[in-house]
Amino acid sequence: MSILTVENFSFKYVHASTPALQHVTCDLQPATITAIVGANGAGKTTLCYALAGFIPHFFKGAMQGAVRVSGADTKQTALADLVTQVGVVFQNPFNQISGAKLTVTEEIAFGLENLGIARAEMETRVRGALDLFGLQEVASQSPLALSGGQQQRLALASIFVMHAPVMILDEPTSQLDPDGTRQVMQAIQTLAAQGRTIVLVEHKLEWVARLASRVLVLDKGALVAAGAPREILARAPEWGLNETRYAQQARLARERGMVKNDAWLPQTLEQAVEWFGEREGKEGREGKEGKSS
Ligand SMILES: Nc1ncnc2c1ncn2[C@@H]1O[C@H](COP(=O)(O)OP(=O)(O)OP(=O)(O)O)[C@@H](O)[C@H]1O
Ligand SMILES: [Mg+2]
Repeated sequence: MSILTVENFSFKYVHASTPALQHVTCDLQPATITAIVGANGAGKTTLCYALAGFIPHFFKGAMQGAVRVSGADTKQTALADLVTQVGVVFQNPFNQISGAKLTVTEEIAFGLENLGIARAEMETRVRGALDLFGLQEVASQSPLALSGGQQQRLALASIFVMHAPVMILDEPTSQLDPDGTRQVMQAIQTLAAQGRTIVLVEHKLEWVARLASRVLVLDKGALVAAGAPREILARAPEWGLNETRYAQQARLARERGMVKNDAWLPQTLEQAVEWFGEREGKEGREGKEGKSS
C-alpha cells in the first residue's frame, strides 16, 4: 500500500504564465527513499509543496488532480493534521529557523511544545535529534550564530523530532561540505531503515545512487521518467543533469573503445571498482589466453 499518491496533478502559481507541474502521477512506498531529480525550475520544490499539502493550503494557484497521504486527500485535510504526517525541510534552512528561540536545543523542541508532548519524551527525542545530526557541541548556542551547514542540520533535526512518518527533504545538503553531506546522508539512511518514508530532492547523483530505491525525473514540470537508480541515472545527460564523475569516466572509456561494457554505468566508487574491474578481469584473461595460444 502506497503512503503517498499523486494523481494527475497539475499546478500553476497565481502569477505564473506556465504551469509548474503538469499531469504528474506517482506513488511512494513506505519505508523507502525516493529521490526527485531534475534541472533548475523543473518543479521539484513545487512537488514537495504538493506532497506536504502546502499546495493548496498555503500556495494559491490553479490546481488539478489530487495528492493523498495514507489515503487522505490533502485538499480535505487541515495543514495542522498534515504536519503530523509529513515533515518538510525546505531548500533554504534559514527560512525554517523560528527566530523565537535562544538555543539550538530549544529550537529543536519548539515544534514538540506545540504538539503537547510530555517533558521526558521531549527530552529523549531532542537528545536523539542532536545526536543524529551531530549538533551536540552547539546545543546551547543561538541558532542564528550557526554556520550554513549547522543551520541546515538544525532544520533537519527540528523536523526529525516531530516523528512524522514521511519526511520530505528539499536539497538537504546544499550548504554542507562533503563530511557534513555524508553525515546527513547516513542519518537519512538510518531514518528509512527505521521505517520512515523519505522523499529526497538531490542534485548530487552519487548520493542518489547510494540511497534511493527509486528515482523520479522532472523536466519542465512533467514527470518524464521513474525507475531504479541504475537505469535512470545512466540517462542523466538527457535531462541536463550533472553526471557523477564515475559515470563520466566510464562513458569516456567506453567511447574510446577501452571498455565494451554497455549494460550499465557506475555511479559510485564501489560501482566504478566493479565496472572497471570487470574490464580488467576480462581483458586480463583474454591477454593471457592470447599469449598462450
Ligand atoms: N511562488 C512562485 N510563484 C510563481 N512561480 C513560481 C513560484 N515558485 C516557483 N515558481 C516557478 O515554478 C517552476 C518550478 O519551480 P520549482 O521551484 O518547483 O523548481 P525546482 O525544480 O525546485 O528548481 P530548483 O532546482 O531551482 O530548486 C519554475 O518555473 C519557477 O519559476
Ligand atoms: Mg527547488
